[in-house]
Amino acid sequence: MARIAFLGAGMMGAAMIKNYLKSGHAVTVYNRTQDKARPLMALGATLAATPREAAGGADVIISSLTNDEASRQCWSGSNGALQGEFKPGAYAIEASTVSIDWIRELARLAMDKGLRFLDCPVAGRPDVAEAGRLKVFAGGARQDVDALRPMLNAISNGAGIIHMGPVGTGITFKLIYNVMGAIQVAATAEGMFACEMAGIDLRVAAEGFSTGATGSPHVVRHSRYMAENQHEDPIQFSGRMRIKDVDYGVNLIEREGAQSVLGHATIGVFGQMLEHGMGDLNDSELIDALRASAKVRQSSRHV
Ligand SMILES: NC(=O)c1ccc[n+]([C@@H]2O[C@H](COP(=O)([O-])OP(=O)(O)OC[C@H]3O[C@@H](n4cnc5c(N)ncnc54)[C@H](OP(=O)(O)O)[C@@H]3O)[C@@H](O)[C@H]2O)c1
Repeated sequence: MARIAFLGAGMMGAAMIKNYLKSGHAVTVYNRTQDKARPLMALGATLAATPREAAGGADVIISSLTNDEASRQCWSGSNGALQGEFKPGAYAIEASTVSIDWIRELARLAMDKGLRFLDCPVAGRPDVAEAGRLKVFAGGARQDVDALRPMLNAISNGAGIIHMGPVGTGITFKLIYNVMGAIQVAATAEGMFACEMAGIDLRVAAEGFSTGATGSPHVVRHSRYMAENQHEDPIQFSGRMRIKDVDYGVNLIEREGAQSVLGHATIGVFGQMLEHGMGDLNDSELIDALRASAKVRQSSRHV
């Protein structure tokens, strides 16, 4: 069993920590807001005051944090995990959805410290993380991924660890995957709102979209929330997080010489959640932002 240092006990982090504890690993947790991590102590976790303190003596240091800024702070800030001393052969894993530029820089910083680095972003919402059924897109040396497979099984039930290739390929794939996912959610909101404007009952529309060739898991899930006007509680994935992921994704895709016309359009569609003060609501509430934009267009026609 490994000694794990886990940085970030947000929705995804806390769910992963619970599964590592259930599997018998020893987990030391750092969270910026320490009170949020306290309930994990009852399950056997130890709390640390800084990322550096958490990382000392760990076999594996893993983080699950909002974005580049949060990850940079926790890994290379003044009390960051990389400021300490490490066990020989210890691993550093970034499981957050961050940019490719930051992953490359972080990999260099970690390797300079003698750590073995993997980017292992995950797919699946917090409920999937709680169930230990996340997909893990691993970027790193094959022997490192194979060595960590038994440990990673705790969060993916053994079914979902895909070795994408060398360091950086995990996040590269995850960002492209999330751009595709966000496009589907934006298309669902636009399609459902168009049905509403055309006088089609939204429950009927959701059934039609879900059972036809359009019925991807994203469309099935989000059209139902939109039709029932019942969104996830607590909030699982916000409009702001969607924009963050697509922004990192579009930058990466274009840098590779590919195009992301739909990625740009998707940022524009989700941007309406920010415009109407809905950025921190569930991504499925995008339909309400489209309704608000339509009202603004309508009232500007009448002035
Ligand atoms: N939610 C999903 O469905 C989902 C699915 C797959 C992947 N992800 C990815 O997983 C990561 C975590 O997402 P989440 O849903 O767990 O988000 P979350 O619940 O909002 O948790 C974010 C975590 O980052 C920490 N944090 C934020 N800014 C920080 C800063 N400047 N310095 C230090 N710590 C900071 C937060 O600490 P505090 O508690 O102090 O705020 C918290 O621990 C993200 O990269 C996200 O894109 C999410």
